[in-house]
Amino acid sequence: MLKDLVIKNRSYRSFDRSERLTLERVLSYIDMARLTPSAINLQPIKYVPVTEELADNILPYTGWARALKMPLPPKGKGPGAFVLMCIDTKATSNAKFATYDVGIAAQTMLLAAVEDGLGGCMLLSYDSEKIKKELSLADELEILLCVAIGKPDETVVLEELEKDGGTSYYRDENNVHHVPKRKLEDIIINAGASN
Ligand SMILES: Cc1cc2nc3c(=O)[nH]c(=O)nc-3n(C[C@H](O)[C@H](O)[C@H](O)COP(=O)(O)O)c2cc1C
Repeated sequence: MLKDLVIKNRSYRSFDRSERLTLERVLSYIDMARLTPSAINLQPIKYVPVTEELADNILPYTGWARALKMPLPPKGKGPGAFVLMCIDTKATSNAKFATYDVGIAAQTMLLAAVEDGLGGCMLLSYDSEKIKKELSLADELEILLCVAIGKPDETVVLEELEKDGGTSYYRDENNVHHVPKRKLEDIIINAGASN
């Protein structure tokens, strides 16, 4: 069921590197993202798949759960792949539209990865210049989002957020990562709907 996939699709920050992520496998997730909606159907997003050693090379230029103040991913437990979601600034006339497209495409890619037994994490925290230099990417490419993908090696659980509770995620003494989510009744504004 889609809901099972959505629940399983958490932000994972520790990965089992014994599972290889071939380029072909990563391309199959990008192929799903390709089919998602796009404002005016412009489809401005370009994808840079980064696997194996190159993924390890750019890992130091990414930032993970900084609020937890712990080294994540743990040493040797980085993602097997990244997908950099970019726009070509010279060819993109309305860059604002791309920021809507990118989230839809990223979530679709991750759902495909979860269905395939993997998981990942969207990252907005990264050093764009260093990543571009490491991968020799053209100046005109702007990275909008970095998506890590791998075989999750940690437990992430959702919990119901009490109305006045904080939204911060946290780890317990067993290193289980807890993610509070607002309840349905707390995000619905009852206006305009009739039964
Ligand atoms: C647009 C976006 C950017 C994010 N950037 C980062 C990031 O830079 N580093 C990180 O560790 N997590 C990042 N996350 C993951 C969020 O922290 C995560 O979605 C949130 O804690 C809720 O956890 P969940 O994804 O398991 O529901 C990002 C998520 C989104 C949607």
